Parts: sequence; structure tokens; C-alpha cells
Amino acid sequence: MNSDLRHRRKVARTALPTAVLLLLGGAVVVQSSAPAAAAETTLRAAAANAGLFFGVAASPNRLYPIVGQEFSQLTPENDMKPDRIATSSGGLQNTSGADTLVNHAQSNNMLVRGHTLVWHSQAGALQGASQATLNTFIGNAINRWGSRIAYWDVVNEALEDNNTGRRRNQWPHSMNRDANGDGDFFDAGDTDVIRDSFIRAKQVVQAGGLTTKLCINDYDVDGLTVQGGTPNRKANALYDIVRNYRQYIDCVGFQAHFNDNPNSIITDDLQANIQRFADLGVEVHITELDIDDDLSNNDIGAGQAENYRKVVRACLNVERCTGITVWGISDSESWRSSERGLLFTGGNGSYQKKAAYHAVLDELNKGRNPTPPSTTPPVTPSVPPTTPPVDPTTPPPPTTPPPPTTGCSATVSLNSWTGGFVATVRVTAGAAPISGWSVQLTLPSGASVTNAWNANRSGSSGTVQFSNVSYNGSVNAGQTTEFGFQGVGTATGLAAPVCTAA
Ligand code: XIL
Repeated sequence: MNSDLRHRRKVARTALPTAVLLLLGGAVVVQSSAPAAAAETTLRAAAANAGLFFGVAASPNRLYPIVGQEFSQLTPENDMKPDRIATSSGGLQNTSGADTLVNHAQSNNMLVRGHTLVWHSQAGALQGASQATLNTFIGNAINRWGSRIAYWDVVNEALEDNNTGRRRNQWPHSMNRDANGDGDFFDAGDTDVIRDSFIRAKQVVQAGGLTTKLCINDYDVDGLTVQGGTPNRKANALYDIVRNYRQYIDCVGFQAHFNDNPNSIITDDLQANIQRFADLGVEVHITELDIDDDLSNNDIGAGQAENYRKVVRACLNVERCTGITVWGISDSESWRSSERGLLFTGGNGSYQKKAAYHAVLDELNKGRNPTPPSTTPPVTPSVPPTTPPVDPTTPPPPTTPPPPTTGCSATVSLNSWTGGFVATVRVTAGAAPISGWSVQLTLPSGASVTNAWNANRSGSSGTVQFSNVSYNGSVNAGQTTEFGFQGVGTATGLAAPVCTAA
């Protein structure tokens, strides 16, 4: 996050002097008696208060005042793509449009997302280039704008359509080789355009001492599932890529072009999917948001404004979701004008706000994780609660065992929606380091696990056993590691996990 946003967030946090803490029956209830802050009237101001950027895709011929007024981040819609700026040997050409956009962003105090370095589409003179040439281009492009670019989409759309979970097989991914035939490209002997491009980009950033963050961007990766509850294999594949190349990848972009395609709808597990990427420690961004105004053929056909609200809320509820970018200003100037998917009507600098705009602004103004209004306001008891008389025939209530001094302990946090959930399990080593762990969880009846990450699993319902994978078994004394799993059914009432150290 840039320092401007961080600063504003700090200010927002410390500006709660009238918040009061009530300690009631052991539960801490935070209540704020401060008057509600005045609602902001632009998307960028409302977003900044919540600690995120709100951006727009732009072109040099559409840099109307609204760009700097409403938005705090800018993505060149076409002017930084290889077909515009790359020569066949990886040099730069025709950068004037991109320069104009970067300058405009800078003078309007907007972040820039560079878009994009390695992509099968709009590749222009780079089409068919070797990795060496791609690397030359990556170096030239990153160095031209340096830290003026906050985020670069290093690799765009690496995964195939139709929810196969596979990499694309056309150039540049046609260069990939699976040396040991194990079905992935993650091994040292494999060739992987994604890995090699990120390694190059990271070298350039480090050599130049740049603050630029490096992102991978794709579409149809938004939910844990797609229409009908089928696992989103494309999202899972992206997740594996980020997990494997975490040392080079700083951020993940969900394009979020939502429409009636069964793989492109808004599902209720959008937030849980954002969360699992965020749990890897990367920033998550909604990078190219537009929402078809007619999603009536599926189960979330709530209307465009409500759908915008859902997406914004899902991001706001995940702290590491640090930005949302809409793919254009107005419907008529959009790449998919027939879907009327944006926040404004009108054109040529004269725009009218749609219901979707007001919904987004309102949701942003609510901020992150608003405390739900309490239905029964807590009352301070005037007399201390009396301890009920002890019935000598009743066994004493079980005492909570002290935290283990050695071994490990585990806690679970749940993200639930109707019919499903994602659990994040945190394993904490005791007073001594551990070299492996297993966690036993007993699911309520009707609940079952569909997939897990950062852990091996045996069983899917009833008592399920998870154990460390190769890279997260060693945990130092007092330190933690996390794994997660997705399930169907309801996990409310999940019994406390039992952790055993190896
Ligand atoms: C689109 C632009 O909006 C169009 O003007 C252009 O003709 C094609 O590309 N995914 C991306 C964006 O990463 O670069 C695409 O932008 C939309 C889909």
C-alpha cells in the first residue's frame, strides 16, 4: 500500500477517541459513541478512508477531470501493452501514450498499475519471442517508469478458459516444459514462463531499488466455485501458482469481468477466495471490474447496483484486498458497451452517475468490517452476577487446559455462506520448535471437506486429519503457520481442533 493510503488509514484508526471498551462477562464489546463520520462524496475519498485505492482504466484521449476527481489509481487500458510499446527485440517504442497517462496519474496523486508485460494477446512484435527477449522487454518496461508504477501486471491471463485449471498452451506458455512429467511446471528442471518472467521482474525491481510490486492477473478466478457449486479450478490453479512462486509475486489481480457465463458470475464465496489469497500474504486487487447489468439467468441476478455492492463488500472485508479498479468510466466507452457494466452513463467528459455508482460509494463509506448493529444493547449489570449454587451431584465443569508448553495448539476461523465455508487453521508451536504437526478436526454431520491447501488431508467428513506439507512442518517456538480448507454444508459448531507435534 502506498504511504499516502497508509497514512490516511492510521489517521482514521486513531480518530476514535470516544470509543469505549466494555468488559462484560469476559467478552470485550467495542462501542463507539463518536458521531458517524460525514460520508465522503467521491469514490477515491471514500476508498482512502477505508484504506484502499479505487481506480479506473484510462486512455490518453479520455483524461477528463472526472478521472482525477473520482479515482485514485489509473491503469492504461491499452497504452502499455506490448502491441503498443514493444519492439521485436524487446526494446520500447511509442511510449508517448503511456507517458501521458503516467504523468497524468502523478499530477493527480494517483497510483499506476502497469498493464501488462507477458500476455498471449495484444503481443504485437513480441508474438513468438523467446524468454530471453521477453526478459529484455521486462527490464526495459519496468525501468522506464521505475517506482512511478506501483503495481505491474507481470503475467496476464496465463490460464485456460472453461474452468480446466490448466495453463494456456499457446505462446508464450508453449515454451513451458514439464521435465519430470509430474503434471506441473513447478520443479527446478521445468520451464515455466510465469516463473521465469517473475524472476526477471523481481531482479529488475531489486537491482533498481524500486518500490514497484509485481502482480499476476487473470479472469474467472473470482470465486471458490463457479455456477452450480463446481470448484473453480482456474482459481485453484492460480492459487497454486502464487503459493509456489510467493517469493516473486507480491499481488494478485482478479479481473472481475462479471457476466452470464457460468464461469464468470458472482458467487457467494468471492470473499472467501479473496481471503485465501490474502492469507498467502499477497495483496489482492479487483483489477478490471465491470458487471453486466443483466445477470438474471443465475442465482445472483440481484440487479447491477446490488452486485457492485457485493463485490466491493467482499474486498472491504479482507484487509489485504487493497484496491478496486473499474474497467472504464462509462458504459458507452467500455470495451463491452452492450453489457452496460460500469458506474456512469454519458461520454466525452460528460457523465451521469448510475445506481451502481451510488451503491459503490455507499458501501465504501461503510468502511471495512463494520460492526453489525447490536440488537440488544449491552447493559452494565448494577450488581455483580452471583455464582449459581453448586449441586454436589454435578461433576465440576471441565477446566480449560493451560496452553501447551511444548507441542502445538491450533485455532480455526470460519468464513461461511449458505451451503459452504472456508476454514483457516492456525497452528502455533509451543515453547519448543516443532518439525511437523498434525491437526485433527471433527466436522458437524452434513459437513465435508472438498479441498485443502498448505496441508495433506485424510478423510473428508466426521473426523478429518490434516498434516504439514514439506514447506510448513518446521515452526519455531511460539511461531505460527496456517493452512486452509473449503467445505460444503455448515461448519458452525465445529469442535476445537486437536494439534499434535511430530
Ligand atoms: C481490453 C481493452 O479494454 C480493449 O479496448 C481492447 O480492445 C482489448 O483489451 N483483459 C485484460 C485487458 O487484461 O487488457 C482487456 O482490455 C480486457 C480483458
